[in-house]
Amino acid sequence: NEKISIGLLGLGTVGSGVVRIIENHQQELKHHVGSAVYIEKILVKDASKQRTVEIDEQLLTENPEDILSNPNIDVVVEVMGGTNGAKDYIIQALKNKKHVVTANKDLMAMYGAELLTVASENGCDLFYEASVAGGIPIIRSLVEGLSSDRITKMIGIVNGTTNYILTKMSNEGSSYEDVLQEAQDLGYAESDPTADVEGLDAARKMAILGTLGFSMNIALEDVSVQGISNVTEEDLEYAKQLGYRMKLVGIAKRDEGKVEISVQPSLLPKNHPLASVNDVFNAVYVYGEAVGETMFYGPGAGSLPTATAVVSDMITVMKNMRLGVNGRSALPPLYEKKLKTDEE
Ligand code: NDP
Ligand code: HSE
Repeated sequence: NEKISIGLLGLGTVGSGVVRIIENHQQELKHHVGSAVYIEKILVKDASKQRTVEIDEQLLTENPEDILSNPNIDVVVEVMGGTNGAKDYIIQALKNKKHVVTANKDLMAMYGAELLTVASENGCDLFYEASVAGGIPIIRSLVEGLSSDRITKMIGIVNGTTNYILTKMSNEGSSYEDVLQEAQDLGYAESDPTADVEGLDAARKMAILGTLGFSMNIALEDVSVQGISNVTEEDLEYAKQLGYRMKLVGIAKRDEGKVEISVQPSLLPKNHPLASVNDVFNAVYVYGEAVGETMFYGPGAGSLPTATAVVSDMITVMKNMRLGVNGRSALPPLYEKKLKTDEE
């Protein structure tokens, strides 16, 4: 291909970042992909809305068919969020032989196996690096970098909004409501921030990490969840006085083949490596039997960090297109799921 054309579903926090990176990093894209990359169409809910990124208005559409059935489009990038609409659009795109990149953890945690199967059946790629821990390449690391190892434990701060809230409440004495509003203004929070503060967003990410790290199809229901909406400024102050920091921590463990996954506010000694992961930063500690301890750290949300993961996935799709190897390993082989709570 001389040029590769992208259809973008969504032009919010992440979509705007994708536009910026495609514009500003053309040299890197050309270097890795060998073709020019350009955006053909962008689906939005309201085309008349003021945008934070400069964009040719002709590119905007409110009709998904302009992208999903557009014969010029090679890769569909889903950064609109939600489940039902996004799922239908992704399936339609894959059936129309378009590769898909998504940042949607709600969707991947609930329907990942189904969508990856549709991708495989249609010889298409479906990549979702941005769905866990924003700019940290943790999915790639589990699926590729650590694939020879047997992972037994993953501990993560995987939600930027709650980490931002807990950090600001603890370090600056800010009120919960004020910092939640700040996290929303900065584009870190989900459109309904309940998913962030009640731990559901982190649980979705831990389900994805559990599925990939343990090669078992872990569902959201398999994760026990507690959020931070009941944490008070006093709780954080007492924790600090006792030498602890409170973090929303996801824990995934495999013991004798059985898996246990949870998300809950946890007190960490202040010299624990995860205790100094602050603001919107995330970190995932991965323990593998052979490699031992590894830790992945970086910005867990926000426009450009998340878009970096999205555009890097796009590059992988395009490299695969050049080699003619798309869709070959969309669904990793899975073992039978065994949970700690299962009856013997
Ligand atoms: P935003 O709410 O900022 O943007 C959503 C965009 O999608 C908007 O442009 C909106 O259009 C469009 N859109 C939403 N629903 C529809 C629809 N039914 N039809 C057409 N267009 C629609 O979301 P984010 O960019 O923050 O998040 C996008 C995805 O990325 C979500 O899945 C989120 O979970 C995920 N994500 C977000 C991160 C972040 O830091 N924000 C980090 C990692 C993942 P309009 O502009 O006209 O309203
Ligand atoms: N709302 C999410 C967070 C976005 O705060 O971590 C990144 O997935």
